[in-house]
Amino acid sequence: MIWLLLACTHSGDGVDSVGTEETAADTEETAVDTAPPGRPAFANPALAEDQNPEPGVFELTLSAAPHDFQVAGQQVSGYAYNGQNPGPLIQVEAGDILTATLQNGLENGSTIHWHGASVPWEMDGVPWMIGPVQAGESKTYTFQLSEPITGWYHPHFDTERQVDLGLYGVLLVKDPAWPVADHELVLVADTWGEAPEEGHHSGFVFQENTWTINGLESPVLKVEAGQSVVAHVLNVSNMGYLSLSAEGMRVVGGEQGLLPAPTTPERLLLGPGDRAIVEFSPGTQEIELLTHPYSVAGASELGDPVSILGIHPSTSGAANAGLDWPFESAAPTPDPGKTAVRYVFQGDEQTGQWRINGEAFPDVTIETLPEGVPAVIEVRNLSATEHPFHLHGMSFEVLSVDGVPPDQRTIQDTVNIGIRQTLRILVPADNVGDWMAHCHILPHAEGGMMTVLRVE
Ligand code: C2O
Ligand code: CU
Repeated sequence: MIWLLLACTHSGDGVDSVGTEETAADTEETAVDTAPPGRPAFANPALAEDQNPEPGVFELTLSAAPHDFQVAGQQVSGYAYNGQNPGPLIQVEAGDILTATLQNGLENGSTIHWHGASVPWEMDGVPWMIGPVQAGESKTYTFQLSEPITGWYHPHFDTERQVDLGLYGVLLVKDPAWPVADHELVLVADTWGEAPEEGHHSGFVFQENTWTINGLESPVLKVEAGQSVVAHVLNVSNMGYLSLSAEGMRVVGGEQGLLPAPTTPERLLLGPGDRAIVEFSPGTQEIELLTHPYSVAGASELGDPVSILGIHPSTSGAANAGLDWPFESAAPTPDPGKTAVRYVFQGDEQTGQWRINGEAFPDVTIETLPEGVPAVIEVRNLSATEHPFHLHGMSFEVLSVDGVPPDQRTIQDTVNIGIRQTLRILVPADNVGDWMAHCHILPHAEGGMMTVLRVE
């Protein structure tokens, strides 16, 4: 399998031509480009190596251990898989089998949850039915990945702390029918803020902190004008929201493969745990991927956006027309009307007590769905803050937000619920097991905002 690792193969080109061609660009540079001088070169997370020669089977070992690393010029005493943050980039094709062995070199228990993948419950990496993998022990996860996803993996035990300290990596499941871009990027976005306790970083609600992409602060990718650039964007921050904009950005995929048709939203909102696939077709203009400060409490006018990635093309050439994706347009499924399960989200920052239906995990009422009967779950948010709702085991379709269906069929595993909003989602109920349903703001999940949905 060929992977385009793209750290700056054309570094000379752009620099050479700037001075000779454009004087107008000089003034523009100071006004538009707020990036610090000497921005790092973009690089994808290092690719995982397949230890199994058999085609269609991807095998690797993920060793979780303490690790010191640099983030945006700062030393972090955290954790890492195989000594790298983000962890190894696992890339397979839909239909492949993944076999991953977790070696737990931490001082307490851990697991690996495959966020976005519909796996058998024993492989889901939650300590609900099966305990965690104890310190010094190993566990092998093996399952088939039948659908394309922009997924990720992270612990689901001691979750808030372990993810915060750097335990996460990307699981890309691609469709071989997708076009191949000149540059295919994986952008793992995380926030790093002040340390509430030693060696601990955390996101802030108002993002007055540093976003990094693959541990780099506002890296730059140099490309040729006319090349195609595709980016898988993943928000792995414990709390921070990305609200993205960029000149000419097209959203072509979500968490669960391609969208039915591309969109060009003014802002692409990605809460914690959320992912998307975007495409750029740079001409000679530099593109900056900006994230705008975002308040989950509904505040507006929070300040200036910051650039999390620069795409800097050569100074001659014309933009391409975009890649030819096999989109299949699809309307949303009509709401069947009946509601099988209702979840009400409540809680507040003051108490740190976050509840679903008034209950705090693990003291929760288990709602049960019969296998094979698609069911509607209604999620209402009565709190004064937004929550990214995540369901394990099955992707779902968003039927409506406050009664309004989306423009096109929307398949997700993590969906943001605005303040006072009501979401109706259709769950296929096709995967037997006990599935966690929770807020992916990890301090909220830790504060009780998690419940269990059973399919039997
Ligand atoms: Cu990404 Cu239950 O988590
Ligand atoms: Cu929440």
